[in-house]
Amino acid sequence: MTQPQHTGGRVNVLTKPEVIGTIEELRSRLIDAQSRIESERAGRGDDAGGTPRIVLVPTMGALHAGHLTLVRRARSLGEIVVVSIFVNPLQFGAGEDLGTYPRTLDADVAALAAEGVPFVFAPTSQVMYPDGDASTRVTAGTVGSLFEGAARPGHFDGMLTVVAKLFNIVGPDVAVFGQKDAQQVFLVERMLADLDFRTRIEVVPIVREDGGLALSSRNRALEPDQRAAARALSAGLADAASVAGQGAEVALQVAHARIDAEPLVKLDYLVVVDPRTFLPVRALHHGPARMLVAALVGHTRLIDNVALELP
Ligand code: PAF
Repeated sequence: MTQPQHTGGRVNVLTKPEVIGTIEELRSRLIDAQSRIESERAGRGDDAGGTPRIVLVPTMGALHAGHLTLVRRARSLGEIVVVSIFVNPLQFGAGEDLGTYPRTLDADVAALAAEGVPFVFAPTSQVMYPDGDASTRVTAGTVGSLFEGAARPGHFDGMLTVVAKLFNIVGPDVAVFGQKDAQQVFLVERMLADLDFRTRIEVVPIVREDGGLALSSRNRALEPDQRAAARALSAGLADAASVAGQGAEVALQVAHARIDAEPLVKLDYLVVVDPRTFLPVRALHHGPARMLVAALVGHTRLIDNVALELP
């Protein structure tokens, strides 16, 4: 197994990240990495850096260019980067795609090696849920039952529960999330505040392919005609953002016109929310807002969002 190397105040690898499957081993590797960095600093007479920062990028694998953007941001934020890869059964409902969710660990590890990631935490379900389930769970509250939560009951409780576990396992100073999952970001931020976690989160803008489709591990299930049709989502959001100065109603009409014209796209919701509450905006709302969209294209559920500035 390739051992992480410490170069210039950062833990790096020459070839492959260390893929770690147990909580004990991960914790012990992180302690070692922190003390290696500290002693190297001390050797250089440099004690100004404080405790080396651990940065976590939580993922479910099937990594794409969007994830790699999160990883690059993570590397700029701290000395020790951990990428977790775990398809969390708790956040999938009955009849959802847990069984078919893409699992591509070898390719993921190769991609992370190219990014200089030292540690991949890839536990089994048995490691994460030794009793087969988590009887103690984090609840996502009212916002957790709206939008994605309405379509996927229990999804956000399962997501917050695994994120809380990962934060307790890894002890990151910072965790990096993608803006594509806007409701997830809102709920994680609220959990961190409500439960007094010391981790802070960094949110990275949505990465889009040519044509505007937001990158997602689920895009690989799209047939070529479905992929072309799915572009109506980002196009509708872009149209909406361009007329946001005329108000939320006009922005919604414009987005609907674009999305509803695409027969392969089955719209689930299109809504404008107040980013402070994640509830639908009221008539008098002005200032920052966010338009959210979710749709089925074939059997693939896609989500996207855009920031709006309402007059
Ligand atoms: O966004 C995801 O990939 C997942 O919801 C997360 C944050 C890794 C938790 O399983």
